[in-house]
Amino acid sequence: MAIACYAIAIVGGMIAAWHYLPDVSQRLAGSGMALQRLRPIHTTFASLWIYGAAIAVMYHYLVHRGDGLRPADRTRFWFHTGCWILAGVGCVVSLGAGISSGREYLGFHPACSLLFFVGWIALAINFLRRLRNGFWGQPIYVWFWTVGILFFMVTFAEGHAYLLPWVEQSPVRDLQIQWKSCGTLVGSFNFLVYGSLIYVAERLTGDKTYGQSRIAFALFGVGCLNSFTNYAHHTYHLPQSETVKWIAFVVSMLEIVILFRVASDLFAAVRASKRAPCMTSAYLGSAKWWTGAILLSSLLISVPSLNAYIHGTHVVTGHAMGAEIGIDTMALFGGVCFLLTELRGESARARLHCGRMRWHLGIMNASLVTLFGWLTISGTVRGIYRINGEALPDWVGYGAWVFPLAGFVLGATLLYQLVRWAPLLGPQSQESALVDAPDTAAAE
Ligand code: HEM
Repeated sequence: MAIACYAIAIVGGMIAAWHYLPDVSQRLAGSGMALQRLRPIHTTFASLWIYGAAIAVMYHYLVHRGDGLRPADRTRFWFHTGCWILAGVGCVVSLGAGISSGREYLGFHPACSLLFFVGWIALAINFLRRLRNGFWGQPIYVWFWTVGILFFMVTFAEGHAYLLPWVEQSPVRDLQIQWKSCGTLVGSFNFLVYGSLIYVAERLTGDKTYGQSRIAFALFGVGCLNSFTNYAHHTYHLPQSETVKWIAFVVSMLEIVILFRVASDLFAAVRASKRAPCMTSAYLGSAKWWTGAILLSSLLISVPSLNAYIHGTHVVTGHAMGAEIGIDTMALFGGVCFLLTELRGESARARLHCGRMRWHLGIMNASLVTLFGWLTISGTVRGIYRINGEALPDWVGYGAWVFPLAGFVLGATLLYQLVRWAPLLGPQSQESALVDAPDTAAAE
């Protein structure tokens, strides 16, 4: 399901990018593919890919720890899978037909939201019931997943507060609640990704100490705090105290600095390990460098006085895409490689072996750098000229080609990964090692 969401997101993004060229945009809109339809499809399925891939890694843990999946867990698994497939089809059909709530990240019809939420409750039961034997002594990834699951439920419900008339009728209140919930929604999938990253690294290196380390717990603590404060750097333009803005800035920066350190440690450990498929460490290496790049971009754009320039420009688009592709997606590619090798053994190792894949990763990174760089530069220039009340220089307009072209190359390399993975997902592949074989040796 995660891989299907990934494919839909990329195809949607590759078509949507042509809207950057006004003539093509008109023709696309005329053929029923307006940006207002494609964009929410793209962003919805990009987020679903991130949630889905992290949940796949969590299920690896559930299958391999303790008594594995019981019949009731499997029933709940199929229940949430059914709910989410229905919700996903509902999103494609309704958003494709132009029926949207108009909300960022929650653009789909509230009926789809209900299906996502009901399915999530079944996932939450499957995961949280494992905590009956204790929570405090568990490795950090269990903490991340637990809080990520609970955060999602609170924040997803909160994100639908616009359905209440007294919220919708007050634009400032509506924006405040919307961005507070969106900040935590991103926090919830970040937690699922951080947990998955540390879990995969532990499995690949066999080193269980990192999951109990101070730095991993520091990431958790600051991440929790950030989930309460990060909304403020999306709402600098709303009436609120300067102190709140600076708290948001300091806490968010602290989280990303610690994340950079964690990503560097895990990359070094996985690379040194003989057991890890080499593409896993290549993806984790990319995630590390992208964390560094996003750290720099965040430092600049979150300073309240500088944010006034770039708010609402393509700098924010570049930042969001750079973070979700460079950090979350790269880390989850490491997770996908890990799961495929666990599921398919040697046949996966051969197919995911470096060589050509590394070249593709290089091209992917180069096109993402181009896209991210262009959005940041053009957005900054637009922000400065906007504040000065001047017309944009011509070269910004000529550069409109950069997004569709770099995006096309990026999309093609992202889709190429599917070509490598697809044969490993078919029924002809070696029988899953996960289905009936809980790893009792690894059970705590
Ligand atoms: C897994 C891969 C991807 C992820 C996770 C992702 C994520 C995102 C996110 C989070 C946004 C919202 C940005 C904002 O806040 O304004 C976005 C927007 C967008 N993305 Fe992607 N993206 C991916 C791949 C692609 C690809 C390959 C393309 C192809 C060109 C693309 C094209 C677009 C377009 C056109 C927008 C709308 C930009 C706008 O509103 O001006 N994306 N993407």
